[in-house]
Amino acid sequence: MNIFLWGGAISACQSEGAYDRDGRTASIFDTLPLASEGRWDIYKHPEHALKTEYSFYPSHEAINFYDNYKEDLKLLAELGIKAFRTSISWSRIFPTLDGEVNEEGVQFYIDLFTECRHLGMEPIVTLCHFDTPLYLTKAFDGWYSRQIIPYFLQYAELMLKKLKGLVRYWLPINEVNMILHIPYLGGGMVKTDEISTYQAAHHMLLGSAQFTQLAHDIDSNNQVGCMLAAGVYYPYSCNPTDVAAAQKENRKAYLFTDVQIRGSYPTWFQQGSFIQANDLQTLAKNTVDFVAISYYSTRVAAGEETVSETVDGNAAKTLRNPNLEITPWGRQIDPLGLKTTLIDLYDRYQLPIFIVENGLGAEDALINGEVQDDYRIEFMQQHIYSLRETMREGVEVMGYLVWGIIDVISAGGGEIEKRYGLIHVDQQNDGTGSKKRTPKKSFYWYQQLIQEYTD
Ligand code: BG6
Repeated sequence: MNIFLWGGAISACQSEGAYDRDGRTASIFDTLPLASEGRWDIYKHPEHALKTEYSFYPSHEAINFYDNYKEDLKLLAELGIKAFRTSISWSRIFPTLDGEVNEEGVQFYIDLFTECRHLGMEPIVTLCHFDTPLYLTKAFDGWYSRQIIPYFLQYAELMLKKLKGLVRYWLPINEVNMILHIPYLGGGMVKTDEISTYQAAHHMLLGSAQFTQLAHDIDSNNQVGCMLAAGVYYPYSCNPTDVAAAQKENRKAYLFTDVQIRGSYPTWFQQGSFIQANDLQTLAKNTVDFVAISYYSTRVAAGEETVSETVDGNAAKTLRNPNLEITPWGRQIDPLGLKTTLIDLYDRYQLPIFIVENGLGAEDALINGEVQDDYRIEFMQQHIYSLRETMREGVEVMGYLVWGIIDVISAGGGEIEKRYGLIHVDQQNDGTGSKKRTPKKSFYWYQQLIQEYTD
């Protein structure tokens, strides 16, 4: 029997730093300055982004996981986690369009995942987590163009071969449905119109299907998951127009899982001219082994503009749900919604689900060397309770990973002061700080929880 994978997650672009060292070149994430400095429009000019003096780019240094990974993994082993999710930086492996491999980059990941195994942690690896190489954005507008797929597959095949035997769980693209909501971060594209984002979505789904085939051919032990930014849409009220609006939003998310799990587009989807002759067979033949999700909250939709207050629903904006508590960053807290979301997905697909991201972003205070983050413990307690209830009802869940297990740079705000970690990193938004790691109160709470469930 497989053990339940209690763990934690981060991503390369939000943690490693060393953005231009040892052969790496920039990814689109490196062009996102601190959001509070108001330069988000920079994404419209990625070719100038790194030449400007507009702002400070926290991701360039991040928490320097690149140099510090051994000590960080040691702390995580002390925490007792059984699974560690991170991503590979594509532009560290293939720094330019010419297809030359950066061996130093490859070696970094071999060393990283060897160390994970050595410490008893199962690596869960994402290939593209909000960090399309900048040269692919400049050349093709990222995933908008079909021309990106061979580059993705070249990168994927290399990593599958180099990490054979070290990595078994693979996620081709982080929160693949985010391409419809945040196309620049999700898929390195500057275009934002609906048809273009569906076109990019098709390329991502096709590339992921081809990746799945490669992964299964290269090692039959490989397990591939689709990765959905999950969280069902509730209707704002029982007004039929609200119910219909929520259904419409849910269908948009299920388009991705339908393709990756059932192997076909839902019938409502008006297939575009960007779908070529053999694409549908490729999608049908290469479905995934499990469903990976991130869950931060549920969302709300209304049919008519009777309600207008919106909040940040983790990239996809949502209407304010008056029944839920909300964080200062506009994330609504809904542990029961996790159960609703899991049941919905399991009833639809009957495939094991892996929660590869869940967590609370908060402004933590380090006082006398301690962070008393009882609010985070409460958040985790409630979500894990909901998860256990769901499993009791027969839903298969493979594991639970805390997002931002170590404080990292936020994807939405480019900042570090919205912290998710169970390990505090002494660093401020302007880059000052010693980068010292300090376990928070939640670290010890999670450590005990894992111990109790493992004994
Ligand atoms: C998920 C992403 O959408 O949410 C992470 O996969 C991200 O990369 C996380 O960091 C939390 O969002 P944010 O914007 O608060 O960092």
